[in-house]
Amino acid sequence: MAIKILTPAEIEGMRVVGRMAADTLLHVADRLEVGMSTQDIDDLVHAFTLASGCRPATLGYRGFPKSVCTSVNEVVCHGIPSGQRLNAGDIVNIDVTSVFPAEGGFFGDTSATFYIGGCSALARHVTEIARWSLELGIAQVKPGARLGDIGHAIQSYAEGKGCSVVRDYTGHGIHRVFHDEPSVPHYGRAGVGPKLKPGMCFTIEPMINLGEYAVDLLSDKWTVVTRDRTLSAQFEHTIVVTEEGCEVLTRRGRPLRWSEDGPGARLGPLSCFLPAEAAPAR
Ligand code: MF3
Ligand code: CO
Ligand code: CO
Repeated sequence: MAIKILTPAEIEGMRVVGRMAADTLLHVADRLEVGMSTQDIDDLVHAFTLASGCRPATLGYRGFPKSVCTSVNEVVCHGIPSGQRLNAGDIVNIDVTSVFPAEGGFFGDTSATFYIGGCSALARHVTEIARWSLELGIAQVKPGARLGDIGHAIQSYAEGKGCSVVRDYTGHGIHRVFHDEPSVPHYGRAGVGPKLKPGMCFTIEPMINLGEYAVDLLSDKWTVVTRDRTLSAQFEHTIVVTEEGCEVLTRRGRPLRWSEDGPGARLGPLSCFLPAEAAPAR
């Protein structure tokens, strides 16, 4: 099946929802605290999403019960918010997907991994490798490049740093459909796969493990953990291919507290930040 090419009007719709999802992540980041529960994060996302006129895409999606995914430490993705408290030293990925307009609208999908208080050198290692993996993946995106170039750039970097790349979950096409073609692997060979064309819209969301890449699905049928229970980190942006390269639709207007405000965070020019004049008024 062919990969959808978005019209300029559709890209504008993606730009609007992308900004809303990015602002939701910023809103939650400002309110993170040691000792809060992942349900507290869900409450924040739920309220802010509705106040923005959006719908939380995950709520009721294939039976997912919450408005955000919260994935702590060895949880790779799709963690379900609960009474679990965040302890100092934990890392948590918060994955927000907003839909706007709420009915029949576009999807904006973005996530980041946060440091809850001071974290171990290993936690910082896997988180920073994941952060830079996304930057390197985004840097591949331009007309004429191949989808495999993205995964190759990520895999060669992350494995070169002694980490591994999750195979069982990938990025995805996104527009008025949450998960469409293409599947965007974060591993693979350069020069293979479909050619990228302006108007294609998809996520890049590398899940990077400190140990082996194998994962297990817990009995709740959602929570994905590393099989060896080592730490896992992830960052995600929604992007559109442009004539010049790409546009990061979920780019943030300022750094994320608890994640991008530390000295170790290497921020790429592509996803962070909006030029000051384009940043949302707040
Ligand atoms: N936001 C996730 C992604 O990046 C999907 C979450 S679906 C859920 O694709 F059901 F687990 F919430
Ligand atoms: Co996604
Ligand atoms: Co997501």
